[in-house]
Amino acid sequence: MNAARPLAIVILAAGKGTRMKSSHAKVLHPLGGRALVRHVLETCRSLEAERTVLVVGHQAEAVENACGGYGASFALQQEQNGTGHAVRIARDAGLDGFEGDVMVLYGDVPLLAEHSLRRLIEHHRAENAMVSLLTAEQDDATGYGRIVRDDRGALKRIVEEKDASAEERRIREWNPGIYCVRSEFLFPALDRLESNNAQGELYLTDIVGFAVSDGHPVATEPVDVHEVAGINSRADLAALEGTLRRMTVRRHMDRGVSFLDPDTAWIEADVEIGPDTVIGPMVQLRGTTRLGRDCRVDGNAYLVDADVAEDVHLRSHVVLSECRVARGAIIGPFSHLRPGADLGQDVHVGNFVEVKKATLGDGTKANHLAYIGDASIGTETNIGAGTITCNYDGFMKHRTTIGDRVQIGSDSQLVAPVTIGDDAYVATGTTVRHDVEPGALAFNPKPDQRRGGWVEPFRERKRREKDG
Ligand code: UD1
Ligand code: CA
Repeated sequence: MNAARPLAIVILAAGKGTRMKSSHAKVLHPLGGRALVRHVLETCRSLEAERTVLVVGHQAEAVENACGGYGASFALQQEQNGTGHAVRIARDAGLDGFEGDVMVLYGDVPLLAEHSLRRLIEHHRAENAMVSLLTAEQDDATGYGRIVRDDRGALKRIVEEKDASAEERRIREWNPGIYCVRSEFLFPALDRLESNNAQGELYLTDIVGFAVSDGHPVATEPVDVHEVAGINSRADLAALEGTLRRMTVRRHMDRGVSFLDPDTAWIEADVEIGPDTVIGPMVQLRGTTRLGRDCRVDGNAYLVDADVAEDVHLRSHVVLSECRVARGAIIGPFSHLRPGADLGQDVHVGNFVEVKKATLGDGTKANHLAYIGDASIGTETNIGAGTITCNYDGFMKHRTTIGDRVQIGSDSQLVAPVTIGDDAYVATGTTVRHDVEPGALAFNPKPDQRRGGWVEPFRERKRREKDG
């Protein structure tokens, strides 16, 4: 076994994915909130390959843009002349001078586990094989290349469905298309490929037959069919989404997260959740959302790219996006934290409160019916029911600054730009147009008047008008 042999990874991602009926490249369709091809790149991360080459073709630029940050290089396959042609392109564009094992993967097979790839590489090296491949088994292997073995079970070649005889089509063992091949064999073998087959393509699978006829050791390693399920249609995508969702919820449960109803939890692949957090029914955690430990999410929550610290209680029906919530906060029911909302420790944001681009200091409360946008609010301040920061004049947005321990009375309008100093009081129903100095009371004098005996004559007049 030569464990020290360098590893290169080639990911095939040039195909159009015709059956997706999409104007977007197949490998960019999201699964668990992550582009298909990024699942493969994530899985490869810890294999620490010396080189990773992504073969791109359809919407090459968009695919390249989605695949940054993994240290992969890109090889452009202008025309998709088959898997063998694709690897040839990778060899010429990204593997020049490489000596070692080359692993070939598909960008549209997202659930293949890292441990299966490790098994393939380890087996390949332990057996001193020239070519190794994963194989799967199922009763109906329609569409796949079949693994043809001799009477003693030794691998002979791979035959594509379209080139297979009726008898070969009954073979249950099929080729998922994942290989580990020594470069000194692979690179020249790619030049031996011919397109004299049913599809007129250069089949990478033919190198397996070459290795056998050349007398090189070839190894196979079984893999679970669920891991190598590829995506060819929207229905495949939806089916895998369900599989991934169950796997993701299970992974979080294994790490100490409780789900009251695992079937309705929608947790995307990049989400992090701390232990002892309890997730209620109908909760969607998307993007790069992070939830700390000991949180409670009651249910019907929708979080995208939210950063929520520990011990936070998200009550029913909250929507959080691109925002931050510090420990001990209580949010909801029916709160909307929009991008740039930054809530300190023990903040309470309650019923029908919307917060956008605003910081709320520790212990500040806005419990009912408020709009807080483009604002900086200090600590221990109370925002009364119905408070509105009037941040938009029809042309520009303006900021509202509120100090510590401020009391904003209910139904107040704060007309930005405006600053309200520490310990100030804003009386109920005040329209604040000018700054309020610390410790001051702001109010709009509005006479609170009465007209005795006004109602009965009013009603009498209205009745007469109505009866005509
Ligand atoms: C291939 C295998 C088949 C295997 C099947 C598993 C060959 C000849 N056949 O089938 O034995 O059972 O995969 O799914 O290899 N791609 C490119 N450039 C190309 C052609 C393909 O990048 O020119 C990429 C596709 O985007 C896709 C992958 O390679 O990610 C597989 O291509 P696809 O056409 O789906 O596979 P088949 O050739 O049908
Ligand atoms: Ca295919």
